Amino acid sequence: MTKPTYYITTPIYYPSDKLHIGHAYCTTIADTLARFHRAKGEDVFFLTGSDEHGLKIQRKAQEKGITPIEYVDAIIANFKQLWNELNISNNDFIRTSEERHHKVVQDVLTKIFEQGDIYKKNYEGLYCVPCESYWLERQLVDGKCPDCGRPVEKMQEESYFFKLSKYQDWWLQFIEENPNFIQPASRRNEMINFVKQGLEDLCITRTTFDWGIPVPFDKKHVVYVWFDALLNYLTGIKYGTDDAMFNKFWPASLHLVGKEIVRFHTIIWPIMLKAMGVELPQKVYGHGWLVIDGDKMSKSKGNVIDPLALIDEFGADAIRYFLLREIVFGNDGNFSRDALITRINSDLANDLGNLLHRTVSMIEKYHGGVVTNAGVSEAVDEDLIALVNSTVANFEKDMDAMEINSAIKGVWALISRANKYIDETGPWILAKDEAKAARLQTVMYNLAETLRVVAILVAPFIPSTSPKIYTQLGLEVPAEFLLADAVFGKMEGTKVQKGDPLYPRIEIAEDGATIIGGKRYEAKVEVPAPAVEEPKVEMEPIKEEITIDAFEKIDLRVGTVKAAEKVKKSKKLLKLQVMIGEEERTIVSGIAQYYEPEALIGRNVIVIANLAPAKLFGIESFGMLLAASDGNGNLVLADAPGMASGSRVK
Ligand code: ME8
Ligand code: MG
Repeated sequence: MTKPTYYITTPIYYPSDKLHIGHAYCTTIADTLARFHRAKGEDVFFLTGSDEHGLKIQRKAQEKGITPIEYVDAIIANFKQLWNELNISNNDFIRTSEERHHKVVQDVLTKIFEQGDIYKKNYEGLYCVPCESYWLERQLVDGKCPDCGRPVEKMQEESYFFKLSKYQDWWLQFIEENPNFIQPASRRNEMINFVKQGLEDLCITRTTFDWGIPVPFDKKHVVYVWFDALLNYLTGIKYGTDDAMFNKFWPASLHLVGKEIVRFHTIIWPIMLKAMGVELPQKVYGHGWLVIDGDKMSKSKGNVIDPLALIDEFGADAIRYFLLREIVFGNDGNFSRDALITRINSDLANDLGNLLHRTVSMIEKYHGGVVTNAGVSEAVDEDLIALVNSTVANFEKDMDAMEINSAIKGVWALISRANKYIDETGPWILAKDEAKAARLQTVMYNLAETLRVVAILVAPFIPSTSPKIYTQLGLEVPAEFLLADAVFGKMEGTKVQKGDPLYPRIEIAEDGATIIGGKRYEAKVEVPAPAVEEPKVEMEPIKEEITIDAFEKIDLRVGTVKAAEKVKKSKKLLKLQVMIGEEERTIVSGIAQYYEPEALIGRNVIVIANLAPAKLFGIESFGMLLAASDGNGNLVLADAPGMASGSRVK
């Protein structure tokens, strides 16, 4: 049987400058999905690359007094170094300056020209050089480029046009019949509205510069960068030169792109393919932006964070984990050094790192390092094992649906459960009782097995951590961590080997420098850019439909705040004493940045009263407060002024 295939791409980035953490974000997600599909046993092709032509690059090279290819060669070295250090597992790296790509672009142009979908006319338009896009007067915002806000230039050229307009109705019908083609759904509606306003034919050649692919039927012209760039997705899997390879991987499973280029990928690209008679990709996903204080990071604005410096300081896996865990996939997310350090310390050093360290240390201490299942089970084991199994199942479901955040949360819930299992079973107490020797072996076995499964699940996110876990557990590191092996109960007789902590805790010195594993890193200025216009607030997508029964399970009550104080060492948390009727509860809530503790005393809040308790900064919290938040730094607590405490909210 042939294996299922999975072909995933990132945008090919402009080598106009070095890459920043925003590019690393997109490529990390693509890499994670590629690794997940390999873990499922699929035949994966993962392509990234560089988009090298165009006026912007030509001008950059001129400023430096070198040729465009010299200019881009130097920057491509930076791209490749970054992907290497970030552990990106791309199968190929496509450069649009390569001969193999020129041939594809020229062949496609000739074909579409000969069938009459390309024509020549005189053109005058407003051009944004950094975005390489023509705009109509009415599309400008304050006379400037609607995408990047910079001035446009009037350009006049004799150009070739691609008949986009001819395909407008076909496109609308295609989108209707393939509702999942554009993701998330909000971007789909945006594109439909755009096309319904009327598609204009697209100018696809230029004569005002020459750093591009020559138009085969009119050599004074070069091909417009976007027409050139999109075709990389075909060149990368050998369109026109290796049919077996091409047919194996096309249509692409997923083009992952930033939201600002969804238009090119969901309107122009499908129409190009339709005109060529090539099948359409299965899905285009437009992810959100990494912002710094609400402003999009971009090379041309100069407010960028260098991912190589971050990797040097924190390590590749920590950066990957932060990007995948902290930013809600599909939405914009804020990059912050503080949040990064908090994540590393709590999730990686504390939860995962400690679980491994405690487990391996105890197996060494109690059993000379040997893992044995003596088969003395108790109910608490069944609970842990059931959670291992359901976590694997949910992980696969979430990752298939590209619910990356939720997949990670699931794995970390298992890690927390395993840490709690240590406290519940108390191995140090069992160790004192000769009669409990077999029970102790079983407990340690269950922990080692859970960690083995965790190592498989986290491999797509933090690929250099899983081999370390395996090695410490005494297991041979496989070439590929396969999901098929994520089944409880496979380990027997291995000998663990304690190693370095997976993630050293990060200490912050008084002057703000970080100290990691004894090495000092100067605090870097995080926000080099001046504050700009109000960021647009993206509404979070509405969650999956639920029934009234699911809602009825939530017990909401009016509570009255009796006391409130800041949680030590936390910027975000307040510890509240809340009265619900006669009952007093401790509730820890992430509202410290929005409310002074004193201001809360005596006021009513809405409490989720039957939520399972959770520990935050070592404090048990019994319930949660309802609050409205706009994803843009504003938060207001919900309340019910004047209502008796304990009243039901429905
Ligand atoms: O658009 N946050 O290249 P590009 C998150 N060459 N992602 C970001 C980001 C940010 N602040 N900034 C950039 C081009 N990205 C074209 C693509 S494809 C046929 C041609 C990511 O160098 C995001 O994925 O401007 C975005 O779409 C891409 O980099 C744009 O990279
Ligand atoms: Mg861009």
